[in-house]
Amino acid sequence: MTVKEPLTIAMPKGRIFEEAAELLRKAGYQLPPEFDDSRKLIIDVPEENFRFILSKPMDVATYVEHGVADLGIAGKDVLLEEERDVYELLDLKISACYLAVAGLPGTKMNDVAPKIATKYPNVAAAFFREQGEQVEIIKLNGSIELAPLIGLSDRIVDIVSTGQTLKENGLVEYETITTITSRLIVNPVSYRMKDERITGIVASLSEVI
Ligand code: PRP
Repeated sequence: MTVKEPLTIAMPKGRIFEEAAELLRKAGYQLPPEFDDSRKLIIDVPEENFRFILSKPMDVATYVEHGVADLGIAGKDVLLEEERDVYELLDLKISACYLAVAGLPGTKMNDVAPKIATKYPNVAAAFFREQGEQVEIIKLNGSIELAPLIGLSDRIVDIVSTGQTLKENGLVEYETITTITSRLIVNPVSYRMKDERITGIVASLSEVI
């Protein structure tokens, strides 16, 4: 009998991780305690024949697109921004939040090419294009809320979860762009080649979502 190679799953480090691990456990998968607080980037779980790779949330879909991970758990925000060649199999309904336009209260956007700071340049550009507004996008990698406070931008496009970051920095929401949850994604070739195992995982996750 041949030993089946493990199924590789790209997990996002950070906020989504805990909820995603909890969901996998609820679905009946035995994940070792080291899973939660290790600094290792590759964690093998031979009991389940899984190999997990722990990546930056923005990179999950990249690993899956290139086939070095069969499956991945990625925020819809990342999928909208990156438009990777992967299939979205399930809405896991975890890490719910939304993308919004925010800024200082009572301020108008500059008439000529207002500046929008964001970690999501493609999503932001598409949103303002649809609104018929010409904007200048400024790509930042985090702490987006700083931008309007120090005069770098008129508005930001960013994730709002509890709303605490906006509040503590004296910013208000102007528009909601779209709601976000985490999704189970799959590499198209893996989906064909390992369909039985993947269908099983989708079924057991579906039961606990
Ligand atoms: C995210 C997001 C907001 C914040 C929203 O940033 O970009 O800044 O969380 O959460 P809240 O509504 O619950 O306050 P994150 O903490 O991931 O760090 P970053 O600034 O480095 O992107």
